[in-house]
Amino acid sequence: MSEVEIHTWAIWLEILLAGVTCLALLFITAPYGRHRRSGWGPTVPNRVGWIVMEIPAVVAFAWIFAQGEHRAEAVPLAFLGLWQLHYIHRVFIFPFRLRTEGKRMALFIAALAITFNCLNAYVNARWISHFGAYGNDWLLDPRFIAGVSVFGLGFGINLKTDQSLFNLRKPGETGYEVPRGWLYEYVACPNYLGEILDWLGFALATWSLAGLAFALYTAANLGPRAIANHRWYRERFPDYPKHRKALVPFLF
Ligand SMILES: NC(=O)c1ccc[n+]([C@@H]2O[C@H](COP(=O)([O-])OP(=O)(O)OC[C@H]3O[C@@H](n4cnc5c(N)ncnc54)[C@H](OP(=O)(O)O)[C@@H]3O)[C@@H](O)[C@H]2O)c1
Repeated sequence: MSEVEIHTWAIWLEILLAGVTCLALLFITAPYGRHRRSGWGPTVPNRVGWIVMEIPAVVAFAWIFAQGEHRAEAVPLAFLGLWQLHYIHRVFIFPFRLRTEGKRMALFIAALAITFNCLNAYVNARWISHFGAYGNDWLLDPRFIAGVSVFGLGFGINLKTDQSLFNLRKPGETGYEVPRGWLYEYVACPNYLGEILDWLGFALATWSLAGLAFALYTAANLGPRAIANHRWYRERFPDYPKHRKALVPFLF
């Protein structure tokens, strides 16, 4: 089998995983954060878990990108920049902003995320720097410009709304409150909405099945979790706003 065929199979595997993940998460909520519960085996400190499980998205992606024949071209480098902007923040900044003292994560969750991040790094880095072919004129293509804009919008929403959650806790606190203000007036999880927009923008900018596979996986992973978080707030907080949706303002 040629490497092009292996890469295409890897993309379809990721799309299949998106479907399986979505179905599974509609029945079993991933046991981390507010949904953590016993019975999922050994655990690691939350902060360590986040760093370890997301680091392949920085390191494996950079290494695979560096093997590609288009690695020094402008458009692949622009995509590398977008990707690393998101993931360098996720690995080296986000875990240190968490107010998560004493909380732990199931090793099983971290192991699943590491496996997925390696597959996803191969699918997207190999496409961008090797199998995809983008001339410099792609920088002025409406799909690139719109995709980068949506990516920027999603990244900004994700950063700002994650920060609103961190601000709900004083140093050392680990409890929960109903988040309020800005997009939280409309949905329970605007940080997830931002993340999904981020990768939809990336898929649009790369105009690739590889990018689409990751956007689908992100939505398949975070959609059911947004529903679970929304239900969790409703069950615990009598003052939780009735009109608030789970993920998409006014819709769902
Ligand atoms: N691409 C993907 O597939 C993917 C998958 C998962 C996550 N992510 C991203 O990773 C980030 C974190 O995800 P997450 O699922 O951990 O998000 P989350 O449940 O919204 O929690 C984010 C942080 O805020 C805290 N927090 C949440 N709700 C709170 C409340 N009501 N009051 C006080 N503190 C609260 C959480 O504490 P606790 O940990 O103590 O609950 C955690 O430290 C998000 O930006 C998300 O988009 C991406």
